[in-house]
Amino acid sequence: MSVVWGGYLETGFEKIDKDHRALVERVNAILRLVKNNADMTEIKYETARLLNDFVHHACVEEFIMMTTGYDEYVKHKAEHDRLLNQLSAYEKLDIQKHDAYNELCLFVTSFFYKHVDEFDSPLALFLHGHDCFNFDGADHDIESAVKIAWSSLKVE
Ligand SMILES: [Fe+2]
Ligand SMILES: [Fe+2]
Repeated sequence: MSVVWGGYLETGFEKIDKDHRALVERVNAILRLVKNNADMTEIKYETARLLNDFVHHACVEEFIMMTTGYDEYVKHKAEHDRLLNQLSAYEKLDIQKHDAYNELCLFVTSFFYKHVDEFDSPLALFLHGHDCFNFDGADHDIESAVKIAWSSLKVE
């Protein structure tokens, strides 16, 4: 089982696609570890890294949505929060049992495909329609905003 990066996952918005490619690598690292019967601490460590990167990515997208007045912001953010809480639960879970590994694999795989398809692609479509490509030149602003959001963020 692995997530294969392909054109269908590209949103055409580099700031978002770059993060997505890195997240796919993290997801595949977890799947590889599980497949190779790796130690539980390794799997949990990799899950924590995915969680960490996803928190950062969610902050980036939320900043973009807020500053462009995206009308699906609340719904999209709620889905980010739901995914973060779910991932955080897996990271804390005592994943000793085979079932829990399988569940984690299914979650990280569908997590990516579903979210890009249902939430990120419509966001990218909106950004294309609103000539928002200049965000790539506003990396500094985005990263500053993310740092502020990051410091106040609390995943339950
Ligand atoms: Fe998203
Ligand atoms: Fe995303």
